[in-house]
Amino acid sequence: MSGTITGIAGPTVTVDLKGLRMYEIVLVGKAGLTGEVVRLERERAVLQVYEDTRGLAVGEPVRGTARPLTAQLGPGLLGGMFDGLQRPLEKLLERDGPFISGGSSASVLDSPRQWHFIPVKGPGDRVTAGETIGQAEEGAFRHLVSAPRDGVLASLAAGSYSVCQAVGSYDDGSPISVCQEWPVRSPRPCRRRLPPTEPLVTGQRVVDFLYPLARGGTAIIPGGFGTGKTILEQSVAKFSDVDLVVYVGCGERGNEMAELLEEFAGLNDPWTSRRLMERTIVVANTSNMPVAAREASIYTAVTMAEYFRDMGYHVLLLADSISRWAEALREISSSLEEMPGEEGYPTYLASRMAGFMERAGVVETMNGTVGSLSMILSVSPPGGDFTEPVTQACLRTAGAFLMLDASLAHRRHFPAVNWFQSFSLYEQTMVQHFSRIVDAGWTEARRRCRTLLQREEALREVAEIVGLEGMQEQDHLILHSAERIRLEFLCQNAYSEDAFSSPEQIMAMMNRILADHERLEGRLAAGDTLEAALGKGGDEHASQ
Ligand SMILES: Nc1ncnc2c1ncn2[C@@H]1O[C@H](COP(=O)(O)OP(=O)(O)O)[C@@H](O)[C@H]1O
Ligand SMILES: [Mg+2]
Repeated sequence: MSGTITGIAGPTVTVDLKGLRMYEIVLVGKAGLTGEVVRLERERAVLQVYEDTRGLAVGEPVRGTARPLTAQLGPGLLGGMFDGLQRPLEKLLERDGPFISGGSSASVLDSPRQWHFIPVKGPGDRVTAGETIGQAEEGAFRHLVSAPRDGVLASLAAGSYSVCQAVGSYDDGSPISVCQEWPVRSPRPCRRRLPPTEPLVTGQRVVDFLYPLARGGTAIIPGGFGTGKTILEQSVAKFSDVDLVVYVGCGERGNEMAELLEEFAGLNDPWTSRRLMERTIVVANTSNMPVAAREASIYTAVTMAEYFRDMGYHVLLLADSISRWAEALREISSSLEEMPGEEGYPTYLASRMAGFMERAGVVETMNGTVGSLSMILSVSPPGGDFTEPVTQACLRTAGAFLMLDASLAHRRHFPAVNWFQSFSLYEQTMVQHFSRIVDAGWTEARRRCRTLLQREEALREVAEIVGLEGMQEQDHLILHSAERIRLEFLCQNAYSEDAFSSPEQIMAMMNRILADHERLEGRLAAGDTLEAALGKGGDEHASQ
């Protein structure tokens, strides 16, 4: 099917091609740039082109491909770094330099690398779509290969294969390889969805103790510029207790993405002490990439994440920041002259966002195992105003809200998670879990920690009026212990040894602070002043 270009406005191209479908991929112009159908009318179709359209002219040919944007899924993705269309960035850089030229189609998995495949099914076996038919070793990673569709196997043999080679075939002769494709805008199927019951341990004390997240849950981290979104996302990428991380970066600062990769390459995974990159996939959006590719990037990323979930793994998708995605959506919408909603965002912003976030969850996979896909998305509200549309759209679907507080960041209290205004809907279930698995005192310790922080807040208001001198010794003790909670427990320097705490370490640390508090309370009751009690080594902090 072919036609011609009738109009070009930046990345938006109109063509006279009939019979296209929404989201179909179209090859545009002599250079064969990739574009996606975003609007269909009777006589014309409107495309968003993923590449630079400079040099493109009206009258050049266009050709439909009859297929949507797909991701290639197979061994070789781990440790990879891709653009929003899943093109390997390194290969593109090698070939084209920093500016990706039109029609670049370096494929993800086209490497000659060989994978050792071991079948678990054999000729004559009837298989259903998604069922495991064998496995390939990808480093230490067990990569399950699944049947692309229902059918009867005619052959399947162990051996070393590249991703394009057939490892076997169905009885109708169609080949099976270790690689498959999936349209990125369609969620991958599962047998059923399950409620999140296990915690997603992040290693961040303020999160795991006060606002615990769930495997299969969603969380958003809204925060103004410089409040620590990127550092928090990266800490979670390094330390969280999952099998695999997909990191979508938009690089708000100049060299952010390059620094991230350099740092990750040198780090070990604290849970397995293997190299961190071996369990990480990075999708990077750079500012010179056209908006359509940026818009597509989160779908490419979530499709790769679902693919590993379907093998029964726990996968975490991080995006920093999702606001850049929403801005791409807004740009596309405005170039289509759609009716703008609040602050120029399209009226379907919230439903798109929900559609994306609903791809997170715990599922019983098509091969009968349980896998999870969790999401933690940072949001950068302009001016730190949380009532803006993107934060609000995310809030509707998110299970947890870790609000970064500019005044905390200003005082260099990091992570700057506000301990009053954040929330987690997983709190109750996860607290029960930690009480069972880590320490029966977890719930009570949280209650006491919270109470101290709340009483500190109230006392600070009183102190503003009567002054610190006018307060009782007991009140001074509360201020003292709450300050320790804030400075020693809630603050966690990402650049130090302290960057990660296990749940056991969290419990031990909190118990120490609470025990000191109790001891000091006893001294005050016996008539000591706080100063005297602290001087007597009643406080571990002081005796250290
Ligand atoms: N956990 C942390 N430990 C130490 N410093 C931090 C931490 N989080 C943030 N910072 C400091 O704050 C700065 C800004 O953080 P960043 O994550 O880049 O903010 P944002 O992405 O919200 O703009 C960092 O360069 C760092 O100096
Ligand atoms: Mg940032």
